[in-house]
Amino acid sequence: MTDYLPLPGTPLEELDTPCIVIDLDAAEANIAKLQAAANEMGVDVRPHTKTNKSPYWARKQIAAGAIGVCCAKVGEAEVMVEAGVLEVMIPNQVIGKRKIARLVALARSARIIVAVEASSNVDDLSEAASAAGAELGVIVEINVGMDRCGVDGDGAVELARQIVGAPGLRFDGLMGYEGHTVAERDYETRKTEAEKAMRILTGAADQIRAAGIDVKIVSAAGTGTYNITGRVAGVTELQCGSYIFMDGDYLEVFNDFKPALSVLSTVISRQKQDVAIVDMGLKSISIDRGLAEVISPPGASIIKHSEEHTAVRLSDAASQRLKVGDKVQARPTHGDTTINLHDYYFGVRNGKLEAAIPIPGRGKFR
Ligand SMILES: Cc1ncc(COP(=O)(O)O)c(C=O)c1O
Repeated sequence: MTDYLPLPGTPLEELDTPCIVIDLDAAEANIAKLQAAANEMGVDVRPHTKTNKSPYWARKQIAAGAIGVCCAKVGEAEVMVEAGVLEVMIPNQVIGKRKIARLVALARSARIIVAVEASSNVDDLSEAASAAGAELGVIVEINVGMDRCGVDGDGAVELARQIVGAPGLRFDGLMGYEGHTVAERDYETRKTEAEKAMRILTGAADQIRAAGIDVKIVSAAGTGTYNITGRVAGVTELQCGSYIFMDGDYLEVFNDFKPALSVLSTVISRQKQDVAIVDMGLKSISIDRGLAEVISPPGASIIKHSEEHTAVRLSDAASQRLKVGDKVQARPTHGDTTINLHDYYFGVRNGKLEAAIPIPGRGKFR
């Protein structure tokens, strides 16, 4: 692939577009803030890299004190292990011979932990791990109210017993993602709902311990619940991901972390006084959680996107001075899906490019 990467030192206004711009000071402050909060609450951090999809950021999170990372898919985990991240949890179900073979291959060179909710999956993981002479860490996923994957407390005891007796597997504990609460705008409601979810998770851990089985890991939390879930007795680690860059949606929940993410575009057409057309479209910014907010210039807002174009409303005299070649910077409402569209972050400090940071985990959804 031919790269057209700008050199370090390139001013923001000269970056080739459309591109993702990361405010490095903000992202680094976010990493430090979550780690400091976790240290103060007495829990570990195992950040979810489904947001950043990049070993560069995973290594920064680990250097700050994280005990490893989470990856949503085997493909993301392969990217991390290849780059030398040696402790990876997949808080998700890995189903099917092909994926399990890749997972077990990873477990031969890294410490891998995977979630399960089905007895048949435990059998398949055990067979593959023992045949390969590998050891796979396994956690049981508990449905804490999100109604996505996971069993309830009673189902968890049986699964834990099965894992303990399964060759090639190591029972590590439990996970339960309270995803139905993390973006709740009202703090008191978020707290009440997240605590309710965590009672289900810690209750399941108690049931398993009562059956004589050791539960080391009790893993949970998204960005919106980091300081709620992190204070629940019995939770051992946080899986937050979005906090690293934040996005428009999360900034409506709170501003505990700084906005670090934007998409930069260039005006390519000016035919109407109050409309500019820029070179960013659905191939470079996602809209699954709504239209992005324009952060520069002030007075501009997005009207609509097509694949390679976006129409931008210019609502005042100052913004209407925008010319062909000028830049428009927008903050996506959903970071994860926007980042998945790009090969690089352009990391900027003091208005200048410091590093083009690869995103090798993008598109690794298998
Ligand atoms: C299982 C799991 N854990 C953690 C997270 C991280 O959540 P957040 O993006 O709110 O930080 C997610 C997000 O989708 C998730 O699916």
